[in-house]
Amino acid sequence: MGGRVEGKRTLIVGGGGGLGGATARRFHAEGASVAIVDVDAEAGARMAEALREGPGNGKVLTLATDIGEPGAAREAVDQAAAELGGLDVTVHSAAARESTATVEELAVEEWHEVVRVNLTSMFYLCKYALPHLRADGGGVIVNIASQFGSVATAGRPAYHATKGAVIQLTRALAVENAANGIRAVSISPGAIETNRLLARHKTFERVRERLVPGHPIGRLGLPEEIANAVLFAASDEAAFMTGSDLLVDGGYTAV
Ligand SMILES: NC(=O)c1ccc[n+]([C@@H]2O[C@H](COP(=O)([O-])OP(=O)(O)OC[C@H]3O[C@@H](n4cnc5c(N)ncnc54)[C@H](O)[C@@H]3O)[C@@H](O)[C@H]2O)c1
Repeated sequence: MGGRVEGKRTLIVGGGGGLGGATARRFHAEGASVAIVDVDAEAGARMAEALREGPGNGKVLTLATDIGEPGAAREAVDQAAAELGGLDVTVHSAAARESTATVEELAVEEWHEVVRVNLTSMFYLCKYALPHLRADGGGVIVNIASQFGSVATAGRPAYHATKGAVIQLTRALAVENAANGIRAVSISPGAIETNRLLARHKTFERVRERLVPGHPIGRLGLPEEIANAVLFAASDEAAFMTGSDLLVDGGYTAV
């Protein structure tokens, strides 16, 4: 029996990072060919190496690209499609690292940078990937949002605003492209143990101290637990699922 995404040609933005990397490893192990697109060339190359050493046999390629630049985004998507022989799945798993600041405190430049990386780059990715997905008879778009697309805390207004918009952009994509066999799903993780949280809170001990109490399940999530959700959303098991936001948040938003 083949893997759950056997032969699927998959482009993963942020594939050098925590959630994108776990997704890349899982997809490759499940039979997919994977193009890792990441602005951090070294992180992308390291992850590609890990995939090649893993159990999968699909192609692996890396593209060092800032997906928030429209020309570069288009080039990366076209190159990935050319080298993989088409595109079946896109995953967007990248966000800007932002400071803690209220609306009043947040610098105008930082607002624009967060919107550029978290949201506008997703528009570019999907805009340029859609013709490839359509040409191959359909496909799946998976966009990583956040529990903060649905609820908010103080001090991260640009992050929360962009994540809410990611959920809505994904719904718009679902509605516009359903007739062409293209599904679009957003995934909203709670706090997951990646370097992103480490950058914000310095040590995992502090991350746990601060964030575990908000998660009724009593722990942080693991990158592999988000990769599982992305895998499900992209696989044929989720064939009736589109326009949905899948919360994988340890109960954060249930309270
Ligand atoms: N870790 C969490 O707790 C958590 C929770 C909810 C949502 N998320 C979301 O999951 C996604 C991935 O987060 P993560 O924790 O894996 O972060 P991460 O920092 O480990 O990985 C993000 C990757 O994206 C890349 N990237 C950043 N800007 C880019 C750009 N302009 N072009 C191309 N690549 C770029 C980075 O180099 C990095 O490799 C983000 O959208 C984040 O908001 C994370």
